[in-house]
Amino acid sequence: MRDRRWFRRGSLLLGWAVVLAGGAAFAADTYPEGCVSCHTNRQGEADFRLSNLLSQIGHPSVKRVKMVPRDCTRCHSTDPADGEPVFSQIIHEIHFDVPKINLYVTRFGGDCRNCHEMNVEEGEAQVKDGAKNW
Ligand code: HEC
Ligand code: HEC
Ligand code: HEC
Repeated sequence: MRDRRWFRRGSLLLGWAVVLAGGAAFAADTYPEGCVSCHTNRQGEADFRLSNLLSQIGHPSVKRVKMVPRDCTRCHSTDPADGEPVFSQIIHEIHFDVPKINLYVTRFGGDCRNCHEMNVEEGEAQVKDGAKNW
């Protein structure tokens, strides 16, 4: 498990180093649709769409997903009682573990609000959703 994650991180690091060398316009972006606003296909650079990253780790096809991350939870559990890592744990861990070298922390400040937004009327934080970009 550990080893697999480290392997993946290695290959991602290379890709992001290339993307991030691209410049300030990228850093100034906001991410109104969460996952799909950041995991995009950057012309002439690496393809960071989730469909591509996931297929590289041998993940089942996500062709039938329409809204991200909403439809991810068709397969991934959100109920801790199931005894497996729930979807939020999987996603939080990817973006926050080993903070010293995790690009989400070092480059994006680990900002919760890239993925979450506050619903002022409900007084509750929510996860942003967006139409798939593949
Ligand atoms: C603002 C940018 C940003 C947003 C928003 C974002 N991610 Fe990420 N994501 C990253 C970065 C950076 C990494 C690489 C982290 C690392 O250093 O391992 C990553 C890695 C991943 C990976 C690992 C891919 C692999 O090859 O193992 C998955 C899966 C993922 N993100 C899913 C999501 C999902 C689902 C959402 C929305 C709930 C999301 N991301 C939102 C920046 C983002
Ligand atoms: C059709 C069902 C299905 C859908 C839809 C799906 N997944 Fe998965 N996912 C799986 C299966 C099966 C695994 C392998 C589980 C395992 O390794 O225990 C997996 C594993 C993963 C892993 C690796 C977990 C780990 O701990 O190594 C990540 C990350 C992931 N999925 C993210 C996503 C994201 C993001 C989406 C939505 C864009 C998504 N999945 C949609 C079935 C699905
Ligand atoms: C990369 C995207 C991403 C980032 C960054 C992120 N979250 Fe989440 N968060 C998610 C997703 C995806 C879920 C699960 C949504 C679902 O189950 O439908 C979630 C769920 C949650 C929940 C609901 C309870 C749970 O764990 O299931 C809390 C609380 C939460 N996040 C807090 C935070 C805080 C605090 C931060 C910042 C330190 C943060 N999140 C950063 C994607 C993210």
